[in-house]
Amino acid sequence: MEFSIKSGSPEKHKCDCLVVGVFESRQLSVPAKRVDKASGGHLGRILDRGDLQGKSGTTLLLHGTPGIGAARVLLVGLGKESEFGEKAYREALAAATRALRETGCQEALYTLSELAVGKRPAAWRVRQAVLTARDVLYRADGLKSKKDPAPAAFDRIGFTLPERESRSAAAALSQGQAIAGGVDLARELGNLPANICTPSYLAQQAQKLARTHKLKCEVLDRARMEKLGMGSLLSVARGSHQPPRFIVLQYHGGKAKAKPIVLVGKGITFDTGGISLKPGAEMDEMKYDMSGAASVLGAFSALAEMKLPLNVVGLIPTTENMPGGAATRPGDIVTSMSGQTIEILNTDAEGRLILCDALTYAERFAPDCVIDVATLTGACVIALGAVASGLMANNDALAEELLTAGQDAGDRAWQLPLWEDYQEMLKSNFADIPNISGSRAAGTITGACFLARFAKNYRWAHLDIAGTAWRSGAAKGSTGRPVPLLTHFLMKRAGKL
Ligand code: BES
Ligand code: MN
Ligand code: ZN
Repeated sequence: MEFSIKSGSPEKHKCDCLVVGVFESRQLSVPAKRVDKASGGHLGRILDRGDLQGKSGTTLLLHGTPGIGAARVLLVGLGKESEFGEKAYREALAAATRALRETGCQEALYTLSELAVGKRPAAWRVRQAVLTARDVLYRADGLKSKKDPAPAAFDRIGFTLPERESRSAAAALSQGQAIAGGVDLARELGNLPANICTPSYLAQQAQKLARTHKLKCEVLDRARMEKLGMGSLLSVARGSHQPPRFIVLQYHGGKAKAKPIVLVGKGITFDTGGISLKPGAEMDEMKYDMSGAASVLGAFSALAEMKLPLNVVGLIPTTENMPGGAATRPGDIVTSMSGQTIEILNTDAEGRLILCDALTYAERFAPDCVIDVATLTGACVIALGAVASGLMANNDALAEELLTAGQDAGDRAWQLPLWEDYQEMLKSNFADIPNISGSRAAGTITGACFLARFAKNYRWAHLDIAGTAWRSGAAKGSTGRPVPLLTHFLMKRAGKL
């Protein structure tokens, strides 16, 4: 899809379709009023017939509208004018894109970009428009021998803006494209099954990314991890025939001495639970247990494409969690790279076991801050559903930055407390720390509490994306979250927002 910014009079523009928004109760948006006028009141007469109520997400395709340059006009419901905001804005963009995908249109001109969305500037509206359109147009049919119905010719979207806003929006257009590229990469990897997307495959993808963008990429194998003393990570890999990998990506866009931001992604390419085997229902979804890793790769893709003036390190511990004759047993005690011993009471709490060694490895970069991203707990799905990622941090300023980045990106997170009281729930009779608490209470927080014990020497935040990284049900699949949140955080740090 090719995107552009168009200024001038949309009603005169020659294209296959002009997209205009209509509020409930027959309230035309400002661009719709212009089109209505140019067409001699045609839109108004159509609305009088009652074919479009203006409800959010509804559309009506008109042919042969008199007095305008476009061959078609797509009316899009915007909901109640008094309630119009970010959600309705995105819904209108998504509905328009879904409708156009089913037509013979090649080029469409969206006037939705002109709508006032709270106080959001044109650059924000354009970035969101690109992200929303690309989200709708994404297809997950890479492994089908017959592709889903061939996409219509639809391949060009223009966004209208008044002249004075179009300059700042041009940069936002390419930012949106870069972020959407990162989202697509994360989705693609998340959707791949575990027989294809193995730890070695993830390492190859990281190397490919490094070649494209001239990043430094190192892949540590089992022997290197043994030397480093990553006994916790390796304990998870014991049941699998797939060799584990530890991926180290480095992007140097900032000053030589600037401390790096370290992103850590959970890369469990399949989580059976290990000896603490999971129930069978929906176990296929555990192929998404590398979504944290995928989002780190996605964020790197976006960050490198935008050439942000920052130093960023990506760490991806990756392995399968399988049962087997050599697999770790409940009760086994292992020594982590930090030296702390861990009693593995449940082999299904494996994410924290691979992340803790990565958090210790992060220390060697003397980081400005470390952010880990993980599909860590089912409890987070119960707490926050698919709407917000769980955020926990040992530094309030960092937490605040990430919450704001999520708001701005339309990829929200919500903070849960990491009070010392919760740490008391993690006590082992036989080792320094157990990998689970004795109860199911506050499961998302106790997971983060475990990680916090390995993140004492720097500012650190943890994103639990178990509920947000993929959709279940009929439209099941990877979402590419939290790539937008992470990239917005980085863009803000780089002074590009
Ligand atoms: N990958 C899962 C978490 C998960 C569950 C993500 C459901 C998405 C949907 C993680 O490794 C896990 O199994 N966590 C356990 C922890 C428990 C044993 C303390 C869980 O949430 O049940
Ligand atoms: Mn698990
Ligand atoms: Zn897992």
